[in-house]
Amino acid sequence: MRFILFVGASNTLAESEIEAQIKGAVLRQPNLYVFESENESTATNLASRLGSSIKLAIEMVGVAPVPTSLADLIKAKNFSITSLDGFKDSPQINQEIKDLLQKGRFILPKEQFGLSPVLLKKHKIDEFFVDQKSEEVWQTIWIHDFEHWIKKDRHMPFANAKAGILPPKIARSMVNLVPIGPIGRLLVDPFCGSGRVLIEALELGFLVGGADILADQVRETKANLDSLGFEGRLEVLDATHLSDKFHDVDAIVTEPFLGKPNLRPDQIRYLVPGLQKLYLGCLKNWLSVLKPGGFVVMVFPSFDDGKHIYKTSSVIDGKLELSYNLLKRDILYSRPNADVRREIVVLQKK
Ligand SMILES: C[S@@+](CC[C@H](N)C(=O)[O-])C[C@H]1O[C@@H](n2cnc3c(N)ncnc32)[C@H](O)[C@@H]1O
Repeated sequence: MRFILFVGASNTLAESEIEAQIKGAVLRQPNLYVFESENESTATNLASRLGSSIKLAIEMVGVAPVPTSLADLIKAKNFSITSLDGFKDSPQINQEIKDLLQKGRFILPKEQFGLSPVLLKKHKIDEFFVDQKSEEVWQTIWIHDFEHWIKKDRHMPFANAKAGILPPKIARSMVNLVPIGPIGRLLVDPFCGSGRVLIEALELGFLVGGADILADQVRETKANLDSLGFEGRLEVLDATHLSDKFHDVDAIVTEPFLGKPNLRPDQIRYLVPGLQKLYLGCLKNWLSVLKPGGFVVMVFPSFDDGKHIYKTSSVIDGKLELSYNLLKRDILYSRPNADVRREIVVLQKK
């Protein structure tokens, strides 16, 4: 069976997450991947584990992309048809189906990805995608649980935007870059902040540990985990001394300290060596924390002072190459208008 996965952001993080989690997925057009799966529940389960997924549609084999065949499929009062191969044709096909049905209401897509999950849920709409050229019909069968994502983003006991909190969907995609399954595996975030990475890892089924240099942050993480009924081993600790408390760890996934926000251009030059020293100290210490073959998924900030781009990830190019295999770099994401660009790197202990 074939499925289309719609993703919320078209960036290298979404691309890398899908590559790591869905074997054989092919980018069909921006924000839209096609993949094969043995059945509907395997495919929806896969989609629901990803941070980048928004919607999933299944191919309706044997259904022609013509109004008469589509009208037969419509069960709900509301429907919406989007032409994948010519978005501008969508109003016409919707009207033709309404004329055939002589009942119901169609909702026109505003973009080529169809309707938003919020609209689909609120109005209970049967949504279809058609491709006249390749004679395909697809029906939306799953949407992401946007209420739960919003809760995790904005309505946790501690969700202080000033502390530089990682958006939950980004945290989920980062955890999904760990190329091993979660069951019985220990994942640690040594800069746990308010626990975003740990919550996503717990929801996927990992065992977790967290550490932060500030006791207040560890308390925030605990309160956030408690509020969702989760548990993890939490310690107040400097990330360069993680080995004092943690061993036999399968994966470290973290957004470390990135420097103080809103730096002036002339401050950047001094910040970068300090951060690189911290990251190098961490990566050396974590060699005694990780199991052989264990993974690190870590954010490295890049700064631009107008004259020069400072990439803190250059620390991995030196002696560390003897201890870690570099599996992936240049996975980029940044918030709109952010002055710090983030690069995610995936390493494996040799
Ligand atoms: C960018 S925040 C992490 C945010 C976290 N990903 C979240 O979304 O909640 C960095 C965290 O690192 C902590 N930190 C700074 N220096 C540290 C160090 N040397 N060892 C451990 N934690 C440190 C800070 O207290 C802060 O909570």
